[in-house]
Amino acid sequence: MPDNAIAFSQSEQVPEGRFGPKSEVRISPDDRGFMFADGVYEVIRSYRGRLFCLAEHTARLNRSLGELRIKLDQPERIPELARTLLERNELTTVDGTVYIQVTRGAFPRQHVFPKQPVVPTLYMEANRLLVRPGLKDGVACCTYPDIRWTRCDIKSIALLPNILAGQHAAEHGCYEALFVRDVCLTEGSHTSIFAVNGRTLITHELDNSVLPGITRNVILKLAAELGLGLEERAVRAEELASIDELFLSCTTAEVLPVVSVDARPVGSGKPGPVTLQLASAFRNHVETWLRTRQS
Ligand code: PDD
Repeated sequence: MPDNAIAFSQSEQVPEGRFGPKSEVRISPDDRGFMFADGVYEVIRSYRGRLFCLAEHTARLNRSLGELRIKLDQPERIPELARTLLERNELTTVDGTVYIQVTRGAFPRQHVFPKQPVVPTLYMEANRLLVRPGLKDGVACCTYPDIRWTRCDIKSIALLPNILAGQHAAEHGCYEALFVRDVCLTEGSHTSIFAVNGRTLITHELDNSVLPGITRNVILKLAAELGLGLEERAVRAEELASIDELFLSCTTAEVLPVVSVDARPVGSGKPGPVTLQLASAFRNHVETWLRTRQS
């Protein structure tokens, strides 16, 4: 991010919130996000300055906040703040992301919630999307034990297990680590997982062991339009040897083919036809949305 990047921050010191250089944002060491990872986040994708699935992301943010009982003042301002950030960072004609983080705010360290009202810290920044070349050729993945807590449905900033898993993947030349819990795949360290058998998709049901992916939801709608079958269940790790295709999804990477897991090829060892069909349906969906809708 360039030094002159503009961020938005709102906290006890600046309760009304302000835009300013990222380098000048001050967040207290007492911030409960810093002390306890007591906060939540969202990443929204922008296509040529337009915020994709904005309502879904703000709804998920509000749900995460509700689960942690963090009361953000005027959450309805977020869409406008996000648009302003895109404008002020000159990201209206390119693809980007908006990062939003909300913590319970700053208070001298104690485990229980502060008794008196504290202004939650809201921090937002916008960045140009970094596209890694070659992703469309498919990526290698590895498995990793799912050592996370049992509320993975909350988009918590407590990401240490995800970081350890992602680092393990990087050190093994892999793009992503696939979490395995009780012999089943749950999700990737920052992605949802889909297996394909014939023309049927298999993806984990929405429960407390996975994040309800916004991209996952778009893919399920497109899959229904394409007449693909759907099984919402966990994929057993041993099934990787026999499934036809595997792919990942997330806000930044859309549909991402997986060609090997733990150095063993998946299916043909190349991006599969159903995955490629969905990837192209996703692109078309975005283009149609860009032509027809305001966001
Ligand atoms: N990651 N599962 C996990 C654990 C994630 O962190 C993410 C998103 C997803 C996919 O969700 P979505 O389709 O809504 O992006 C699934 C974001 C991009 C991140 O942490 O950067």
